[in-house]
Amino acid sequence: MTVADLETEAQRRRTFAIISHPDAGKTTLTEKFLLYGGALTSGAGAVRAKGTGRSTTSDWMEIEQQRGISISSTVLQFPYRDCVLNLLDTPGHRDFSEDTYRVLAATDAAVMVLDGSKGIENQTRKLFEVCRDREIPIVTFINKWDRPSRDPLGLLDEIEEQLILEPVPITWPVGDGDRFRGLIDRRGGSFLRFTRTARGATEAPEELVEADRAAQEEGDLWTEARDGVELLDSVGRGFDSKLFESGELSPVFFGSALTNFGVRLLLDAMVDLVPSPTPRHDKAGEPRALADPFSAIVFKVQANTDRNHRDRMAFMRVCSGRFERGMVVTHGPTGKPFATKYAQSVTGRDRETVEEAYPGDVVGLVNANEFRVGDAVYVDSPVRWPDMPAFAPSHFRVARTLDTSKTKQFRRGISQLDEEGVVQVLREPEVGDQAPILAAVGPLQFEVATHRLNNEFGAPVELNPCSWTTARITDEPSALKLRRMSGVTVANRADGELLALFESPYWLARLEADQPELTLTRLVAEG
Ligand code: G4P
Repeated sequence: MTVADLETEAQRRRTFAIISHPDAGKTTLTEKFLLYGGALTSGAGAVRAKGTGRSTTSDWMEIEQQRGISISSTVLQFPYRDCVLNLLDTPGHRDFSEDTYRVLAATDAAVMVLDGSKGIENQTRKLFEVCRDREIPIVTFINKWDRPSRDPLGLLDEIEEQLILEPVPITWPVGDGDRFRGLIDRRGGSFLRFTRTARGATEAPEELVEADRAAQEEGDLWTEARDGVELLDSVGRGFDSKLFESGELSPVFFGSALTNFGVRLLLDAMVDLVPSPTPRHDKAGEPRALADPFSAIVFKVQANTDRNHRDRMAFMRVCSGRFERGMVVTHGPTGKPFATKYAQSVTGRDRETVEEAYPGDVVGLVNANEFRVGDAVYVDSPVRWPDMPAFAPSHFRVARTLDTSKTKQFRRGISQLDEEGVVQVLREPEVGDQAPILAAVGPLQFEVATHRLNNEFGAPVELNPCSWTTARITDEPSALKLRRMSGVTVANRADGELLALFESPYWLARLEADQPELTLTRLVAEG
């Protein structure tokens, strides 16, 4: 394959994730993307199991089913126009924002879905902050416009004020709720009128309507929408791809995932506005050209995806070169060769063999047991990616096995959860493995840990609450002093970092002020 061929393949890729508050319509939109990508023949229902109200693509754990949340990340690949779209699933709950951060490390953009009657909600904000941290371009989709919605200008203000993100509407709604007629495309001023189909099971028929006819046929709804567009034109800045790519500006699309209104325009934007993969920078800041030998970054390690496959999968995003199944790659941190015989893509419970992949694509490697999140994988010329930061935990539990005859299983389970990044595992030197401290960004992570220790490793556990609330990274000289104080505990993390755990944030603040010589480094994304 020539360099030009490889670059052409890379240019056809768009790799992105959807972030949203639960219920804003992420699953429905995903389903409609597949419908418009021609990857869904049966319409609604293939992503969601009708009647259960939950996604089947990523429901692989009972706990997900019990709680109706999505924890695991999967990847959907589908063609659209002359492009290949890779949609990476992110956990919907903010307790898993660390996982989201890791997935976003593998994407080139995100679609932020808002409910048009609610605007920005808690978890939208939290997940958005994760995107901002990574400077990821964000496309905004204001969904559920087929329901009575808020004033669109008010929603734009909210985005601007609460997220400090400049919203630039590309489409503008004509009507809302039952009277949602269609969208004005501000780029050419055309009016696209849609027709509903039953539950949006097929694409919504579209009709391009001239302004005069629109005014005649849509009356007040048209006038109101035209006024809105004129106001935007008079005050607003236009779309600027540089500001979009640096995460400062977001193109905004209105629509309804349920009725398919505006879905095609949004998908077109993914192709027309979202950047294709660009050279990734290594730890030293050097770009790895797309046409360089194969390299990839591991962004997710997942075990036990279902009862029939009790193995471990490492998901990697291709950064450069061409991946071919069977090729022997080098695992960066260990320098060991790894034969990629079992290369797969995972859509929910379905696994398919991946024969080849290009920059932007995701490949799951079975039994890549030594692979960890953030690791580099390559052929020929070695590469090391920037470290993947661990999030600041603010919830802590001490884990103990309830059945001492299961100590071995308990230890094995704990270290596996640590390796997968389900929770951070900390050990106090004098207590060690018997009662490790589990640290999490959100308490739901503990539920996942308990469930998996019980069901997967056969090691029933109890997690005891503890009084720490805040963690800082410290070093040995400071740890010596900190260990003599009360209200603070110093523990080791598996990656070699020393963490100081504090009971009182106020006391910590005083300590930082009074003893600035102590090393107390903040962790990322502290809430
Ligand atoms: P999520 O993945 O972000 O959690 O949201 P999901 O797509 O599951 O959507 C949550 C609910 O909102 C679903 O209703 C879904 O049908 C509805 N919904 C999504 N997009 C739209 C839209 O554009 N317009 C309207 N009116 N509703 C929308 P549900 O009652 O929970 O499930 P279902 O019984 O309708 O499937």
